[in-house]
Amino acid sequence: FRGLFWILVLICAVVVVPAAASADKVTIKLGHSDPDDPCVSKKGAAARVFKDMVEAETGGTVEVQVFPANQLGGEREMIESTKLGTIQMCIVSGAIAGYFRPAMVLDIPYLFNSPAVAWKVLDGPFGKELSEALLKETGLRNLAYAETGFRHFTNSKRPVRTPADLKGLKIRVMETPLYITMVKALGAAPTPIAWPEVYSALQQKVVDGQENPVGTILNAKFAEVQKYLTLDGHSYGTDFILINDQFYSQKLTDEQRRVIRQAAIVAGNVGRSIQQLNSAMGLSKLKEQGMEIYSPTAEERAQFKAACQGAVIEWLKTEIDPSWIEKALVAVAEAEK
Ligand code: MLT
Repeated sequence: FRGLFWILVLICAVVVVPAAASADKVTIKLGHSDPDDPCVSKKGAAARVFKDMVEAETGGTVEVQVFPANQLGGEREMIESTKLGTIQMCIVSGAIAGYFRPAMVLDIPYLFNSPAVAWKVLDGPFGKELSEALLKETGLRNLAYAETGFRHFTNSKRPVRTPADLKGLKIRVMETPLYITMVKALGAAPTPIAWPEVYSALQQKVVDGQENPVGTILNAKFAEVQKYLTLDGHSYGTDFILINDQFYSQKLTDEQRRVIRQAAIVAGNVGRSIQQLNSAMGLSKLKEQGMEIYSPTAEERAQFKAACQGAVIEWLKTEIDPSWIEKALVAVAEAEK
């Protein structure tokens, strides 16, 4: 019997021990909509840095699988999947407003006059309060803010110098009601279309134009289907680095959580930097690709702001708790000092 006992112990050591060790390893599936190449893609760069840091600093106990370029669907699908836990993370921009309406406060036209102000607001107490409310309402934890960048109009019909030139143009907007209100206030006709379908909508002339930051316009090859770019910078787009909170709270150790939080902060800053670089280098490339670029004068920019900011704020007051608007304006005034 004693021999049989030791044979059983040996079998358990071979079969059970490796099974227990491999069960400790967790996998994070992370989706985003940008190209994979971290040298040209803000979300791609953020995801790449996040993956490398997390895998190295957890000694490989957390594996991060990145799914770029809408492989897991558009932003709404990725947010749904992260909420459900079929994937664990996503990096998304405007579509979050469909799940957490106060996020729209960040898109108020001409709220931020510089990325430095936006970063100070998002990384300060206001950004923290917004993330906490998002977590409570959706079960999604925002680990860090990155950025889509300052957004500009493009179109295939005519140069746009003032809001009057936008009149009647059909403009694709994100699936975010604030942009519908803003584009209407500017005199154009908004059409919400998910990001993966935007290029073909422009190509097939379902819409005349769209609005996005310079780097995004470049990466999406919109110069092939759009002639005119107006650098009106009507709003600042924010990227959210989201994780399913149930997974975060229940499937990770304290140490893994610490690594993940810190890696996300670095990733968010890398995403911001690549976005800034893409937008700075993108203008000359878009010009080479045949786009006509117009930079509105201060007076013309003031016309854009006057046409849409007040209208959007009034509308937003009926959509979300108005105290969010008040708090955002106070945080911006403080950050501008
Ligand atoms: C959009 O217009 O849908 C977004 O700005 C795309 C992006 O997140 O880069």
